[in-house]
Amino acid sequence: MSSIAQLLDGKALAQRMQAELAEQVKALQKQHGRAPGLAVLMVGDNPASAAYVRNKERACQTVGIVSFGTHFPAETTQAELEQTIWNLNHDDRVDGILVQLPLPDHLDSVALLNQIHPDKDADGLHPTNLGRLVRGEPGLRSCTPAGVMRLLAEYKIDVSGRQAVVVGRSILVGKPIAMLLLEADATVTIAHSRSPDLSALTCRADILIAAVGRQNLITAEMVKPGSVVVDVGINRVTDGTGKSRLVGDVDFSAVQPIAAYLTPVPGGVGAMTVTMLLHNTVWSYSQKF
Ligand SMILES: NC(=O)c1ccc[n+]([C@@H]2O[C@H](COP(=O)([O-])OP(=O)(O)OC[C@H]3O[C@@H](n4cnc5c(N)ncnc54)[C@H](OP(=O)(O)O)[C@@H]3O)[C@@H](O)[C@H]2O)c1
Repeated sequence: MSSIAQLLDGKALAQRMQAELAEQVKALQKQHGRAPGLAVLMVGDNPASAAYVRNKERACQTVGIVSFGTHFPAETTQAELEQTIWNLNHDDRVDGILVQLPLPDHLDSVALLNQIHPDKDADGLHPTNLGRLVRGEPGLRSCTPAGVMRLLAEYKIDVSGRQAVVVGRSILVGKPIAMLLLEADATVTIAHSRSPDLSALTCRADILIAAVGRQNLITAEMVKPGSVVVDVGINRVTDGTGKSRLVGDVDFSAVQPIAAYLTPVPGGVGAMTVTMLLHNTVWSYSQKF
């Protein structure tokens, strides 16, 4: 008898978490006289970035976080942005600062991210926070990796002692997810574009995380029966009629009858990322008192 994977519903969990955060924000505001604040810096007019920023600002509004969004023209200089970050670092109303990537080519994004005070690093990408993650110390965790772990916890998926394979090794996703899984006592393998015989690695995975950005990279033959498959990838594809939609890295319909749990795209990990950003902002705020 064949079964079908249970979907890990990031959208539903994100909604529940946002409702809880809204209650928490209300209580914190009553107690301390102000709501948490998040500043999102966007430079230029990349339409995908603009949509992400709108989404983040809307989510802030939903839970009662004040947004200090600033939209800069594409020709803004490094010095102007550094000054803005300095001001936000010293602004007591601001608990989280986020620079929306990618930035225009003339800007040094790593230098800017490093300027953000580690305690206001809502994206968890500052070297201090990545260092805390590696050392297993409390700190701000990157949103997408933290969202994956929260989703697994929600479905009571225990990763301890299990084989986890992370495909992708970026600073944004792959490496921090691998560290979080290691922290949760999984045995972790990290695969990347130079890994020969990817399938031999993924077939061993009790927990498989795909974070690459390539449609259908993970096929049914690459998945261990009864495993947990988390699809972080986001790829925009256009069908024959010219209509576009988002898909992940996993061949969803082929893998669904094989895995025990599977995240949909959209509605899986992506839905969790913004919620973890709100969570981080509230966490930073609450650390001040
Ligand atoms: N759901 C969300 O909220 C969310 C958030 C962030 C990102 N994403 C999505 O997640 C995906 C990954 O994002 P990213 O920022 O990590 O991308 P990235 O910086 O481009 O990294 C992609 C990784 O995939 C590896 N890779 C490329 N081709 C491969 C192959 N054929 N086999 C195995 N590994 C391969 C690369 O290996 P090398 O290091 O060897 O080049 C690299 O480590 C993208 O689709 C992105 O849109 C989703």
